[in-house]
Amino acid sequence: MTDLSPMRAELARHYDLRPSMQAAEATRDIHARMARVVPLADWARHAPYVLAINRLKAERNAVILAHNYMTPDIFHGVADVVGDSLQLAVKAVEVQADVIVQCGVHFMAETSKILNPGKTVLIPDMGAGCSLAESITPDGIAQMRAQYPGAPVVSYVNTTAAVKAASDICCTSSNAAQIVAAMESDTVIMTPDQYLAQNVARQVPGKRVVWWEGSCIVHERFSAADLRDFRSFQPDTTIIAHPECPPDVVAEADFSGSTAGIIDFVHRMRPAKALLVTECSMASNIADELPEVEFVGPCNMCPYMKMITLEKVLWSLHSMTTPVEVEPEIAARARIAVQRMIDLSRKPAA
Ligand code: 13P
Ligand code: SF4
Repeated sequence: MTDLSPMRAELARHYDLRPSMQAAEATRDIHARMARVVPLADWARHAPYVLAINRLKAERNAVILAHNYMTPDIFHGVADVVGDSLQLAVKAVEVQADVIVQCGVHFMAETSKILNPGKTVLIPDMGAGCSLAESITPDGIAQMRAQYPGAPVVSYVNTTAAVKAASDICCTSSNAAQIVAAMESDTVIMTPDQYLAQNVARQVPGKRVVWWEGSCIVHERFSAADLRDFRSFQPDTTIIAHPECPPDVVAEADFSGSTAGIIDFVHRMRPAKALLVTECSMASNIADELPEVEFVGPCNMCPYMKMITLEKVLWSLHSMTTPVEVEPEIAARARIAVQRMIDLSRKPAA
């Protein structure tokens, strides 16, 4: 979405979206969940959108699924379900609604559509892609299969529906080791995240894990040297890294896990200082529920996730755009790979 003016003009005709202290007061309970990171003056800008979106959601019988990397105004303000990639995929099957608005990136909306072919799945900005999903095509999967005959292909959910359809099973960062360990073959192909694959290979030493050379532009930028420097200045910091980071970065961390795993760890351990080696909104979204934790250090923004804004969510529900479609034959094959993952990740680890 490049020129936002027509959208803004149309929204202004239907809703009063001017900053409003009255709207901020009316949504005080929602603001309380993010008061530490969103000042009241900013909330007065967001509140009219939150009120309009929440009204429209009821009218359209819609639910909003939001990834943990959404900004706090979306995460706390309008989302019905929040979570990591696995939790969102599982919830996508369970939601009772006609419309799903996916606040996340395109592969997440596709996954919701694959699991709910009869529902309308909307994404507020079709440009919200992912460097991992863009790094591989079904041809790449065929290439890997030719190189490692007989080895199963485990594809990260951060892939297009066509790549999922060409894979044997999917995984997310929260179940990747469990899925790889459950494969019968000694050699397992993991696509497209080379770093997730290398981190999983360490966790599952009994398998020979081979990988595609994709990476996440948010997590590949962290370096082990930066973390060591940081620790030398602030030795009392608990460092928590996402497994899309390179293995030497993960090795410097006290804990590594999916975004939901990170949130759970901070809740359980309540460190005095925490450095979340991941996307910036993660710390913002949990800051208010953990007032005793000081979130420190560098984080990186995902430019794709940040394309999803309250304004575009309102537009999406107002104009019912943009519906995500997956060709039925591809969706049917992709569903098998996603459903296998969901079923396997429900089994207790061996
Ligand atoms: P998880 O939320 O599954 O950890 O994934 C992180 C991510 O980068 C999604 O794009
Ligand atoms: Fe893709 Fe990385 Fe952004 Fe997640 S954080 S959507 S993996 S680019």
